[in-house]
Formats: sequence, structure tokens, C-alpha cells
Amino acid sequence: MCGIHSSRGALIVLEGCDRAGKSTQCKKLVHVLNERNIKAECLAFPDRSTAVGQLLNDYLTKSIDLTDKAVHLLFSANRWELEPKMKACINQGITLIVDRYVYSGVAFSAAKEGMSIDWCKMAETGLPKPDAVFFLSLSPDALSQRGGFGNERYELTEIQTKVRNNFMELADDTWHVINADQEVDVLHQDILSRALSVIQNSEYKSLAYLW
Ligand code: TMP
Ligand code: MG
Repeated sequence: MCGIHSSRGALIVLEGCDRAGKSTQCKKLVHVLNERNIKAECLAFPDRSTAVGQLLNDYLTKSIDLTDKAVHLLFSANRWELEPKMKACINQGITLIVDRYVYSGVAFSAAKEGMSIDWCKMAETGLPKPDAVFFLSLSPDALSQRGGFGNERYELTEIQTKVRNNFMELADDTWHVINADQEVDVLHQDILSRALSVIQNSEYKSLAYLW
């Protein structure tokens, strides 16, 4: 391809309830895109490998306590520390498939007493806006059939219900609500075909910023 403009990668986010299969689908999608010679990489938030991420891991595994606002800002900081890398990849034509992003950031924090969606959105303002959000949706019935919750903070039905309502408030025209109660491979094909068209449509569009 020649010309002044070179195509960028797309920013595609997978969101959804716990156990909806986000991580599995992210990995499969990147693998298959790479097989088709489409440059793509996985990213997951929280990224527990950084110094901030280690604090978040300690918080999630309940080894430390932090105030609600402080932990919210740390989850956001964990995205901001990866923002230069994200932009560099996208500008180099690499598509990013992201396992959780600002929507989890806002939906989980705003499920807490005294935390508003508007306040929670502020810290995320200016981060790259996804070209598409694939929300993997599971009915409460399907969810209850998928093994029990683990021991991490937030893995409680009452919290998850509030989180789901918050997710729905955040949905905009970039969202695709996808039924996650399907065979892994059927779901993968659905996600793949949507991703291919998002990647194609994003190529010569400039990256937008939140919100
Ligand atoms: P994980 O299970 O995908 O690693 O996510 C860990 C938990 O952190 C999960 O319960 C969702 C929550 N979370 C937030 O509260 N804020 C955020 O910004 C992100 C990315 C996740
Ligand atoms: Mg988890």
C-alpha cells in the first residue's frame, strides 16, 4: 500500500461479567487474526505486572485495604501507564484486543456507596476511545451454571448485579451486546466476524478519545 496515510490498528475491547469467557475469547481472536496476517496483540486490565498493578493485586486478593476513591484512581493509573504503548501499537498498525478497560473501571467503582458514574469517568478522560466494545452478556441463569465465584473482592452476586446495571448505562454506539451463552467456537466466530469489519472500518479513521 502506498500514499501519505498509513492504516492504523483498531482498538477493540471485550467487557462483560466475570466468567463470561473474555480472556479465552481475547486469546483466540488474537491467534486467529495473526494467522490471517493481521497484526494484533492482547492487553488485559488490570495489568498486575507493574508496580501499580501489584498494589491492585494485593487489593483484589484482600491483602491490603484502600479507600474506594484511591483504588479507583489506581485502576485508572494502571491504564494511563500503558497509554503510550497502546497509542504506539495502534499507530504502527497493530490491532489491540483488550480484556477489560475503562468500562470495568467505572462499572465496578460506581457499584460502591457514594461513588458516582460521573466522578468515576473523570480519571479515564483522554484515554483512547475503543473502536468497538464487545460486551459478553450472560443471563443470571447461565452465569449460575458456570462454577462458583473465587475469593477475590467483587466476586459476589450482589456486586455483580450492580456492576451489570452500570455497564448498561455506559453502553454507546460502539457497543455490541453479544450472547456469551454459546459454545466457545460459535462465540469465537461471531466475535471474529465483527472484529474483521471493525478493523477494516477503523483503518483510515483517526483514533478518538474518551468520552
Ligand atoms: P480480572 O479478574 O479480569 O483480572 O479483574 C479483576 C477485578 O478487577 C474484576 O473484579 C474487575 C475489577 N476491575 C476494577 O474494579 N476496575 C478496573 O478498572 C478493572 C480493569 C477491573
Ligand atoms: Mg477475575
